[in-house]
Amino acid sequence: MSFKLPDLPYPHDALAPYMSRETLEYHHDKHHNAYVTTGNKLLEGSGLEGKSLEEVVKGSFGKNAGLFNNAGQHYNHTHFWKWMKPNGGGDKIPAKLKAKIDSDLGGVAKMKEDFVQAGVTQFGSGWCWIAVQNGKLVITKTPNGENPLVHGGTPVLGCDVWEHSYYIDYRNRRPDYLKAFLDHLVNWEYVEELFAAASK
Ligand code: FE2
Repeated sequence: MSFKLPDLPYPHDALAPYMSRETLEYHHDKHHNAYVTTGNKLLEGSGLEGKSLEEVVKGSFGKNAGLFNNAGQHYNHTHFWKWMKPNGGGDKIPAKLKAKIDSDLGGVAKMKEDFVQAGVTQFGSGWCWIAVQNGKLVITKTPNGENPLVHGGTPVLGCDVWEHSYYIDYRNRRPDYLKAFLDHLVNWEYVEELFAAASK
């Protein structure tokens, strides 16, 4: 299989004012598309052709940096678009997921605080995450295109803290972007779906 740029699950202006049309035009149409195009070129002759995206990400980590960076970012961004929705965010969290957040992450308020802190303290480009690791929810951060998959976890929520994700709308105010992501954008139903699949 080759990588394919997915359509956004909503119009480009649907997340405004928290994430603008201009940001999504650059971030999805140009940046994500470049990961797909470059990833497909690097996939050829890598020995990982025909594998699933998850297998390419895991199989190239530590072995083929060029392919890993682009495949990792394709995986991360494909989920990132689905981790947001218009009128998302806030505390409307499905019951089973909320119970797990309460038991593993110290409650919703503490989870939000730690998630923002992970994103703010990721030096340079990267991502902050909620992942399932050994049956528990954990909050982590990774540099560049890395994600919890290559550290034995399953991502259930991630936020892109590369400047291309927020500089047009928030300039250098990464904490404000992360807070807006949690308060107004997160698609908790999609997080719950991934959490349920990871918990089987
Ligand atoms: Fe990005």
